[in-house]
Amino acid sequence: MCGIIACAGVKDAARVLYGGLQDLEYRGYDSAGISVLSGGKIHTVKRAGRVGAIAQAAAGLGGSCGIGHTRWATHGRPSDANAHPHVCGRFSVVHNGIIENYAELKKELACMGCTFFSQTDSEVVPQLLERYYAEYNDLKQAVLSCVSRLKGAFALAILCEGEEGFVAVKYRNPIIVGTGGGAVYAASDMPALSGLAENVAVLKDGQIAFARGGKISFCDFEGAAASLTFSPLPAAAKSVRLGGFPHYMIKEINEIPAAVKNTAAAFEGEDVARTIARAAKKRGFTSVMMCGCGTAYHSALAAAYYGEELLGMPVRVETAGEFRYRKMAVGADTLFVAVSQSGETADTVEAARAAKQAGATVAAVTNVPYSALTGVADFVVPVRAGTEICVAATKSYCGQIAALAMFFAALKGAGEYRSVLSAVKGAEALCAQTISRTVAEDVARACASSSGVYFIGRGIDYPVALEGSLKLKEVSYVPGEGYPAGELKHGTIALIDSGTLAVAVITQCGLAEKTASAVEQICARGGRAAVVCAEGCAPAHLRERAEFLIEVPACKSCLSPLVSVIPLQLIAYRTAVILGRDPDKPRNLAKSVTVE
Ligand code: G6P
Repeated sequence: MCGIIACAGVKDAARVLYGGLQDLEYRGYDSAGISVLSGGKIHTVKRAGRVGAIAQAAAGLGGSCGIGHTRWATHGRPSDANAHPHVCGRFSVVHNGIIENYAELKKELACMGCTFFSQTDSEVVPQLLERYYAEYNDLKQAVLSCVSRLKGAFALAILCEGEEGFVAVKYRNPIIVGTGGGAVYAASDMPALSGLAENVAVLKDGQIAFARGGKISFCDFEGAAASLTFSPLPAAAKSVRLGGFPHYMIKEINEIPAAVKNTAAAFEGEDVARTIARAAKKRGFTSVMMCGCGTAYHSALAAAYYGEELLGMPVRVETAGEFRYRKMAVGADTLFVAVSQSGETADTVEAARAAKQAGATVAAVTNVPYSALTGVADFVVPVRAGTEICVAATKSYCGQIAALAMFFAALKGAGEYRSVLSAVKGAEALCAQTISRTVAEDVARACASSSGVYFIGRGIDYPVALEGSLKLKEVSYVPGEGYPAGELKHGTIALIDSGTLAVAVITQCGLAEKTASAVEQICARGGRAAVVCAEGCAPAHLRERAEFLIEVPACKSCLSPLVSVIPLQLIAYRTAVILGRDPDKPRNLAKSVTVE
């Protein structure tokens, strides 16, 4: 949700910033912009549209220091004027987050004669900086005074005429600083620093970095000096390219076997299992509460089926945004499990904070080990899906299913843990088989021409149906819904006609007849049906009735979602391509939603 980058002490700041913005584009692609300092003056280019929109104009900017931004619009529509950086007097600023008290600040500044050029919340920042600089004639004091006025969430990068370098500020949204080759950098995420920084450090909430003359110093919001420990840029934080695939979505689906394998490897040895078991024993919890957003919520829903059955205790699941504003019974006897690919989704991080304040033990299930969520959690349950660029999550979902199964197994005991770990290792090959055998094209054509696609499933197949529906909506914009198979007849069946398609997920043979009868009901009303089922699960009459049948290998029930989701991901991908959508950057979406 907005990506920011800054550099100082480089040969061609505009080139460095432009390259970094390409790596950050997954965070938002409504507009892009760059400011550089050259000849003592700030030069800015910014445009509505993707990062590519500024390519030409940025090429000639040069400069030795600068800041850049790629935007996911919150306040003010995507336009040139609302694009960052926002400039006022000697300051240029890029912002990730939301200034919650912007309206009152804007009113105050307008009364003092300030003119605003955008509808954004962010523009109050350079206006405040300019005002305080005029008052103190000191950059540090201007920055401290400015941040003391801001409420909400803000990662900022600031450029000031006459001050060679940049300032980076972190509060609730991420800033990573880096050094290498005599230059200093800051960015929202590590991959944007790969190939640039050798050593990196993650700013903490309430810290400010001042990059000047190849050096970097830190202070807190009170102005007191702070120190940060730098470590080498992790090898995993690589800048990722398509490598021959037409889109990141299909590339990342093909990386599912590796995601499952690497996640299993992170659980190999006793360390992770021991940490989980120790945390559980120490607190003696009596219930589990799981939270996440979007795809992460769906993986939590799926895992809860296994967790509750295995542990014999309540395992509740709620979307993080709802959890925060609902008075749920969470306390010292609760194990709170926050699931997030990025570890920086604002609702999930805040839900984890709230659970911790209520006394719960917090586990973070995340793909990003240095994320905000890991900072809140008592312990981390690792997902090793690798950097995920496509806005629609695919391989990270499969990594989460694997990690959550091993997490619950570790809570149960050593025997279950060994058995699940070995099943996860085996799932790598099952995923590879599913990817290579699935022919999604015909179902995708049916989806592309449908007025609505309804995904149904029972038991653990129901969250998979939800995820299949989300994937299709996200990347193809074909409307539809995910539904529990048994509920269809209580309302949604009214929507079924010859223009609709139902996709049934059937991996639990014991429930196959039940879901099959829902498919019969759909076909009886003229609807078309596709079935994704585990080998040996589909009743004979279903094989005759369904227009499309995709079989996936059978596997341990708790891992079935990571196999059965693959055809649904492939169907969504192909539908998007058939309809001419960009599956990697769907309209209106961003990969990391760092605002509430
Ligand atoms: C956004 C993305 C979704 C993602 C969700 C949660 O809405 O578009 O694909 O599932 O955020 O993200 P997280 O990083 O917390 O898993």
